[in-house]
Amino acid sequence: MIVCLCHRVSDRDIRREAAAGCTSFDELQDELRVATSCGACHDCAREIFDAHAGPRCPAQQRRAQEAAALAA
Ligand code: FES
Repeated sequence: MIVCLCHRVSDRDIRREAAAGCTSFDELQDELRVATSCGACHDCAREIFDAHAGPRCPAQQRRAQEAAALAA
């Protein structure tokens, strides 16, 4: 599925980068340019990245904890 129409980035591209060790969304944006133009794909791209990122950085851990607390 294409997530970012502006830069033709798919969910598979995002998962591949996460599996390759990309640990921050900023790094993902530098690598793929996802969510760097119109921004319409930002939330979807971030959700896919957060679900597949490897060792999480402190900011990702905090967001995951906050999301879990809101869901409870
Ligand atoms: S759809 Fe991704 S930046 Fe526009």
